[in-house]
Amino acid sequence: MSDRRLPPALAAAVAERAQPSDLGAAAALLSAGYRANRPSRQAVPDAAGVAAYAASRMPATYAAVTAALDRLDAARPDFAPQSLLDLGAGPGTASWAAASRWPSVAAVTMVEGSADFRALAVELASAGPPAIRDADIRSGDISRSSGLPDGRFDLAVVAYALTELDLAAAESLVAALVGRADRIVIVEPGTPRDHGRLMAVRQAALARGARILAPCPHAGPCPLSDGDWCHTSVRVERSRVHKRLKGGTVPFEDERYAYLVLESPGAVVAGHGDGGRILRPPRAFKHEIVFALCRPDGSLGEARVPSRDRAAFKAAGKLGWGDLLPEDLSS
Ligand SMILES: C[S@@+](CC[C@H](N)C(=O)[O-])C[C@H]1O[C@@H](n2cnc3c(N)ncnc32)[C@H](O)[C@@H]1O
Repeated sequence: MSDRRLPPALAAAVAERAQPSDLGAAAALLSAGYRANRPSRQAVPDAAGVAAYAASRMPATYAAVTAALDRLDAARPDFAPQSLLDLGAGPGTASWAAASRWPSVAAVTMVEGSADFRALAVELASAGPPAIRDADIRSGDISRSSGLPDGRFDLAVVAYALTELDLAAAESLVAALVGRADRIVIVEPGTPRDHGRLMAVRQAALARGARILAPCPHAGPCPLSDGDWCHTSVRVERSRVHKRLKGGTVPFEDERYAYLVLESPGAVVAGHGDGGRILRPPRAFKHEIVFALCRPDGSLGEARVPSRDRAAFKAAGKLGWGDLLPEDLSS
C-alpha cells in the first residue's frame, strides 16, 4: 500500500500558499458549494478558492486517488506506466499521486479548464519530481471530444471531475478513453448520485470492450438494490492548516469515495482469481469474521471465516472494506 499522505514537498508547497486568515471565506464557499453539488467553476471561482481547495480538499482527493491506484496495482502488479493523462486535473492531485506511486511515470499531461487551477498546478509542480516539473499543463474542455489530447497513454486518471460533467458527456469521455489509455482510473465522491452515474459510465466502457479491474469482480449488472451504493473510505490525516480552515479538532477525516479501474482491449493481461469485493467494513467476532461481498458471478453474498481455521482467520483479519477477498477464503 502506498503512502496516502501528500508527499512532503507538495504538502509544504500547499501550506505555503494557504494562509487561513485569507482563505476562510473561500474555504466556506467551497464546502457549501461542493455539498450542494455545484461545479468547481462556482465553488472554487478564483485564486483564493483554488488555494483553499489545495489546503482543504487536496489531501483527501490525493488519498482516495492513491487508494484507487493501489487497486490497479493489486490487479496488475507488473504495470509500470510511463505516460499519464490527468483529466480535470485541478492542482495536479492525481498526477502527483501516480508519479509517487510509479517512479516509471515520465510524461505527464494535465488537462484543466480553470486558469486559476492551472496556475496553481504550475506553481506546485515546481516542487515536484522531474515528470511533474516538466508536465504539459494545458487548457481543455473534457466535456468535448476535442478536449482530449492526441496520442495514446499508459494511464488516464479522472479524479472528482466526471461528477461535474453532465452524464452524457461523462459517458462519452470514458468511452473515448477506452482504446486511448491502457488503464483508466476514475475516482468520484462516495455518494449514491455518483455511484449511479459511475454505473452508467461503466456500461459505456463495457460497450467499448473495456474490462473492469476494480471494484466490480464481474461485468454483469450491479447487484446492489436501489438506495444502496458501492463506495469505500480512506482515512486522511488533517494538517494544522486543514483543521483551522475546516474547523474541528479531530486529527483525521474519512474520505468516502467511489471508483472504477478499467482496462482497454489489447492491454497485456494476466488472470486474477478472487472471491469477491468486500462491500462494507468486515464484522469481526471472536468466533468468525463476516464479509459482505459482491461476487465474481455478479451476485451479492456473504463469506464467514471461522476462528477455528487459524491461518485463514489471521489472513482474513488483515482485510478491510474495499479489498478483494482471496478465492480460498470465500467458501
Ligand atoms: C473537484 S476538482 C478535482 C481536481 C483534481 N482532479 C483532484 O482530484 O483534486 C474538479 C476539476 O475538474 C475541472 N473541470 C470540471 N469540468 C471541466 C471541463 N469540462 N473541462 C476541464 N476541466 C473541468 C475543474 O475545473 C476542477 O479543477
